[in-house]
Amino acid sequence: MILLDGKRVASEIRTALKDEIIRLKQKNIVPCLGVILVGEFPPSVIYVRNKESACQEVGINTKTLRLDEKVSESELLSIIAEWNQNQSINGILVQLPLPNHIDTQKVLDAIKPEKDVDGLCSYNLASLIANREPYFYPCTPLGIITLLRKYNIPIEGRHCVIIGRGELVGKPLANMLLQKSCNATVTVCHTKTSDIINFTRQAEILVVAIGRPQFVKREMVKEGAVVIDVGVNRIQIQSVEGKKPNANSKIVGDVAFDEVKEIVSAITPVPGGVGPMTVAMLLVNTVSASKRQMQTG
Ligand code: GUN
Repeated sequence: MILLDGKRVASEIRTALKDEIIRLKQKNIVPCLGVILVGEFPPSVIYVRNKESACQEVGINTKTLRLDEKVSESELLSIIAEWNQNQSINGILVQLPLPNHIDTQKVLDAIKPEKDVDGLCSYNLASLIANREPYFYPCTPLGIITLLRKYNIPIEGRHCVIIGRGELVGKPLANMLLQKSCNATVTVCHTKTSDIINFTRQAEILVVAIGRPQFVKREMVKEGAVVIDVGVNRIQIQSVEGKKPNANSKIVGDVAFDEVKEIVSAITPVPGGVGPMTVAMLLVNTVSASKRQMQTG
């Protein structure tokens, strides 16, 4: 069994980026990512902090706006309009989820496609199915495909089953795997799929992105499959006296790792699998945004 070590691969990618950014700085290009965080949803606060420190580590500047959860949609749109014009900001990321009173896709669509380093605006997403190269691919699907490539796991002709049809992972990943650059056969399952085990057991590559702790059990997985676990779930465990706060909870994925790892050919751990790859792809996209904008003015 191969452990697909996203933490290690992401760190290699960051090291290469650091060198590239040093070279860019010699040409007076300093990549900068603008981040908008609305409210204080605890996972989002942590994700944004991780993204900021990853940027800092490789030499990307960040400008983060932390806004009250009551911020109006129009205020958000006007900040984005301003950042679209601001030449010192190369990439714009709006951390999701947004509060319910805000139309998420409208906000994402306000980001200029050339600065949409998350690859989530309609133009970039539509490009995926229109056989047109998007400016950016969404970070988590790109991270998954990059990880498979780094471990020389073949994708072409293989049956990839994705559990989850979300806008951030399942839907874009399905389309990316269908592209000629991957040539996979793709099945997408979701909460309303009946007899889901019938599909998951056929998967040569199984990607799980549904946000349900340890949902995929050993009997749902074909022997020798490659399993990619996108889930990040905090679960309570029995409290241990005298331990620090948080000692009675831990992070698990959407896959029951300990039992599934026994029968697979490769699997991502949680944490340390897909998560670090997502952040690394954001850095890659931001650097590529800065290079492209410097060329086009
Ligand atoms: N929330 C959870 N994952 C993501 C992501 O990849 N991008 C953004 N913008 N928000 C997220």
